[in-house]
Amino acid sequence: MVGSDIEKVLVPKEEVEEIVKRLGEQITNDFLGEELIVVCILKGSCIFFSDLVREINLDVKFDFMVLSSYGNSTTSSREVKIIKDLSEDIKGKNVLVVEDIIDSGRTIKSLKELLEKREPKCLKIVTMLNKPDRREVDIVTDYNGKVIPDEFVIGYGLDYAQNYRNLKDICVLSPSVYMK
Ligand code: IMP
Ligand code: MG
Repeated sequence: MVGSDIEKVLVPKEEVEEIVKRLGEQITNDFLGEELIVVCILKGSCIFFSDLVREINLDVKFDFMVLSSYGNSTTSSREVKIIKDLSEDIKGKNVLVVEDIIDSGRTIKSLKELLEKREPKCLKIVTMLNKPDRREVDIVTDYNGKVIPDEFVIGYGLDYAQNYRNLKDICVLSPSVYMK
């Protein structure tokens, strides 16, 4: 049962809402008078993306990517594989990539390098959560929701084995679930 799989609530939904509002205001102010392509990284970012775009008061277009990381974290050459690419060309456009969480930083670093090659006017990253204790590569994110400790979290789009994405709060998964 979902309830017993949760160790604790880490970021309650009220705080999530405040964070998303703040990020939306920051982004709106930084791009006033400009158009923005907002890129949702599926599946984890879908709920954050849906809330965030409604707090951005600009002309926005949506695009979606599906990525999968391969190799293992001890391989420094690990790169992201694109399962589904953007549907529009981003050359000369303002692009905002929406991520759920930055962990080792490898996914977003690799994605950033890949998208920079397409010569956008500007490429920014927004992440809901950040686990700096786990970082393996240098990566600068432009908009940051909340820094969290090194714990495995679920909810608000984040999964464990594809489950729990629909929880409203961001929660710490009970270790008993992955010890099973
Ligand atoms: P990175 O390349 O190590 O930064 O991996 C980031 C990706 O790993 C995220 O987009 C998530 O899909 C996944 N991930 C990392 N930490 C967590 C977590 O605590 N809960 C759920 N997914 C996570
Ligand atoms: Mg992800």
